[in-house]
Order: sequence, then structure tokens, then C-alpha cells
Amino acid sequence: MDFGLHRAAERLRNASRVAVVTGAGVSAASGVPTFRGADGLWSNFRVEELATPEAFARDPRLVWNWYEWRRRLVAGCRPNRAHEVLAAWSRRYPQFTLITQNVDGLHERAGTRNVVRFHGSLWELSCWDRCAGSPERWRDETVPFVELPPRCPHCGGLARPGVVWFGEPIDPRVSARAITALDCDVCLVVGTSAVVYPAAGLADEARNRGALTIEINPEPTDATPRFDLVLQGPAEEFLDRLEAELSSGSRLSSSQ
Ligand code: OAD
Repeated sequence: MDFGLHRAAERLRNASRVAVVTGAGVSAASGVPTFRGADGLWSNFRVEELATPEAFARDPRLVWNWYEWRRRLVAGCRPNRAHEVLAAWSRRYPQFTLITQNVDGLHERAGTRNVVRFHGSLWELSCWDRCAGSPERWRDETVPFVELPPRCPHCGGLARPGVVWFGEPIDPRVSARAITALDCDVCLVVGTSAVVYPAAGLADEARNRGALTIEINPEPTDATPRFDLVLQGPAEEFLDRLEAELSSGSRLSSSQ
């Protein structure tokens, strides 16, 4: 385990282009439940039953109740050590991109630069009817909403969460930013079950382009065998240990 950590730290120390892909596990230590863990269910619904345009069309109140619950929960959470370390790296590396599947906004709250929100944001809304008067998305951090479901301020119709649902494409501009970042020295994938595509394929593409790929997760995933290095454990612990190795390495070299 320590061998993997040393190798990862060595490669990170010599890297200038770093891409990090994160999933729900990064926010677990902040108290945000993951989607597919034992505590990931909400009122006995699976995420695939709620996070779809069809579910919203059928029962917008039910879907909004779930998002309202998550907005309230996340509003009471704080970034953890994993977010903090990644935020520090975003300022340290000349080229750093954090591609997150998380919609909770905790990376941004930790001060991370260059975040690509692959699946959108809990804190943005858009018009369900895509009315001509409304912007593509707008920010709304109201917790709780006065009226549920919330309304589009432009046409008075239904507003929807500004997130990507199953069956919906990733915004091509967002995809393009993510794909550009995969030309990197090290690609780190942290806290994702790697079952939702296209996000789950990003590390493979980085590897095809010559990057060293590292997975950090307490559990093996379907993608584990495809990584160059696997650090099996919680993100908040391993990122903290990597950061400690990196800082002791730089202290060493600056004192020589
Ligand atoms: P999942 O809930 O599928 O997976 C969370 C992963 O985090 C699992 O592999 C856990 O082993 C791992 N994990 C748990 N605690 C951890 C910790 N402390 N440190 C590191 N890892 C930990 O969440 P995602 O992979 O993010 O999409 O899910 C992907 C997408 O599915 C989400 O973005 C969302 C969901 O449906 C949409 O809503 C479109």
C-alpha cells in the first residue's frame, strides 16, 4: 500500500499537467451520502428512477422533493480534507483540471480552480420548457424553496434542477473541456463507482494519451483492473497522505 503511495507521490511531484476525476465518494466524509452505497437510497427510490426526464415529467414534485432534500443536506455540509487537498493542487500545478460528477458544489466551496461540472449543479436551475426568455441555467441557492416545485421566473412554468439526468447528453462545451484536460501527466480518479458513462471512460482515454492513471477508492470498482496504480482507502485519508509526501519531498529538495 505504501509502495503505491510513494509511486503516486513521485509521479505527482514530477507532473505539471494533472487531471482529477471525482465522484460521490469525495464528499462522503462531509456527510453527503453516495448514490450506490447502503445509505444512498432516498425513500426507497434508486437514483436511476429519479434522475431522469421521464421521472420529472411523470411527477415533478417527487423529483423536486429529492433535490430539495439534497440541497438542504449539502447546505449543512462543509468541504473535507479531500476537497482541501485538491483545491491546493489546483493552485499549485501549472495545468490542473478537476472534472467532477458531483453536483454538490463542495469543490468550488473549497476554493478549487478550474472545476468542470460534468453533471451540472444542484445550485442551478433551468426552465423545463426551455422558454425563449430564460437563460440556459441560472443560479438559485434558496433553501428551502418557498414554492415546490419552483417556477421559471420568465415564463412561470416549471423549473428543473440544472443537472444532467440519465438519458441526457453532456453539454458539448463541458465535454470538450474535460477531454482537453486528459492530455496530462497524471490522471487521478477519486471516489467513483465508475459505472456511469461517459465519465467512467475518462481515465481510459487519459491512459491512451500517455497519462499515469491512479484510482483512490475504499472498494474495488469495475474499472480498478485498468488503472496503473490503485490506492485502496478513503479519499480524505489518501489525499492527505499524498499531500504530506509531496510537501515533505519539496521541503527536502528546497533544502538541498
Ligand atoms: P456512487 O455512489 O456510484 O459511487 C461512490 C463511490 O465512492 C463508491 O465506489 C464508493 O466505494 C466510493 N467511496 C465511498 N466512500 C468513500 C471515501 N471516503 N473516499 C473515496 N471513495 C469513497 O457515486 P458516483 O460514482 O459519483 O449522476 O456516481 C456517478 C453518477 O451516478 C453521479 O454523478 C450521479 C449518479 O447517478 C447523475 O445524477 C447523472
